[in-house]
Order: sequence, then structure tokens, then C-alpha cells
Amino acid sequence: MEQKDLIRKALESRSMAYAPYSKFKVGAALETEDGTVYSGCNIENAAYSPGNCAERTAFFKAVSEGHRRFCRIAIVGGYEEGMQVSSYATPCGVCRQVMMEFCNAGTFEIIVAKSMEEYKVYKLEELLPQGFGPENL
Ligand code: THU
Repeated sequence: MEQKDLIRKALESRSMAYAPYSKFKVGAALETEDGTVYSGCNIENAAYSPGNCAERTAFFKAVSEGHRRFCRIAIVGGYEEGMQVSSYATPCGVCRQVMMEFCNAGTFEIIVAKSMEEYKVYKLEELLPQGFGPENL
């Protein structure tokens, strides 16, 4: 799938975000190696710690449906700023570690977008250098 189409899916998923506490809404769209796309949003909780990030929602949906090989993820997250989001939401450390479990750090692409026109692309190894993963065990 084209990068822009994956960003569109992340934007759509962001509209499902349940973030009444932080108001920081995040959407993600994760592409498997066979081209299937799983989306996810952040889901907060009144007790705070049970909340889940958009990226992990997408990963856990995909893995629970039998997928373990992924090529890229698009992420759109931030506060509302007119029709725009306020920031480039790079994934948190816990989400990077979940990516490390299922992705090749040298090839897996992380597309961090504010809109379909404004985005940056990283490799997992840039965001999690010297990461610890299944290969280390
Ligand atoms: N969040 C994500 O879903 N993904 C990120 O990459 C950064 C943070 C969520 C967690 C929480 O619901 C809100 O954004 C503020 O931290």
C-alpha cells in the first residue's frame, strides 16, 4: 500500500480514539507483509494505567488474527489544532519494544504523520538503536 493510503487509514482510526483524559488522540495503521492492514487507536481508562497506545492496539489486533510479519506502520497523533494535529507523535518506548518483537529493525518503516502531506519516515533501528529482541535469546 502507498504511504499516503496508510496515513489515511491511520487518520481514520484516529477518529475512533478514546482519549477523554489526555485529549491526545492517536491513530495507527499497520501493514503486514502480505498487504493486510490493521488499524488501531489509543484507548484510555479512568484508572489511567490500563490505557493502551494506538500502535499496540494495531499490533495486538494483527497478532491475535495470526499475523507476525510486518513491513510498516503509519501513526498520526496529537491535540486538535484546527483541522490539523499538533505534533509528530513518535511511538513510546513500550510500543517500540513491541515492534522489536515482530519486526526487522533494519527494514521496518515507521511513518509519523501530521497529515497526508506532512510526514517523516524512520526505520525501527533509528528509533530503537541496539534494541533487545528475539534474536538475543
Ligand atoms: N499515545 C499513543 O497512542 N501513541 C503514541 O505514540 C504516544 C502516546 C497515547 C497514550 C495516551 O492515550 C495519549 O497518547 C497521551 O500519552
